[in-house]
Amino acid sequence: MTGGLVFGYLCGSIPFGVIFTRMAGLGDIRSIGSGNIGATNVLRTGRKGVAVATLLGDALKGTFAVLLTKVLFFPEYVYYACIAAALGAFIGHLFPVWLHFRGGKGVATFLGCLLGLCWPAALVFAVVWLGVAFISRYSSLAALCASVVSALSLFYFGTSLMACIALLMVLLLWWKHQDNIRRLLDGKEGKIGQKG
Ligand code: G3P
Repeated sequence: MTGGLVFGYLCGSIPFGVIFTRMAGLGDIRSIGSGNIGATNVLRTGRKGVAVATLLGDALKGTFAVLLTKVLFFPEYVYYACIAAALGAFIGHLFPVWLHFRGGKGVATFLGCLLGLCWPAALVFAVVWLGVAFISRYSSLAALCASVVSALSLFYFGTSLMACIALLMVLLLWWKHQDNIRRLLDGKEGKIGQKG
């Protein structure tokens, strides 16, 4: 289990938003818009391709951590190791060692972890995110709603342990979104694609 957690953490701590924006010559994403290293903020640079690459990188590192753990671990431990890898990847994205533990808000990585652990829950996340984002145009609100609903859906599609660990991730995700929540309540949150 510790192996899964550490392996997951190392995968999750790769800051794709920082790497891709630098490679695209856009400077440091942490000094643009909200300062977050995620795809929503990368989109504020106006470079859709870089934002999509960030979204894929941040999501797939979670999926990769879970799926590779599935292959690497002995069958008797694999269930717990995969859940540990998902938690490790999520924590790695939020607190990456490479960025002095100041990472992102975890939305894409949460989705990628769900995809590796239990794809129907990832589908629930995608449907709720798209629905709320389409109606409100707020990425943060869509993420806050989708994270809760998809974590709860694991009680049905996955296992109680998966759901409890996902709810722990949701707590961290909401905590990382406290500025967004404040701005949403004040009516000051930026909408999707709005330049920062
Ligand atoms: O993925 C994070 C998103 O929910 C909010 O990002 O940049 O608007 O704080 P941002």
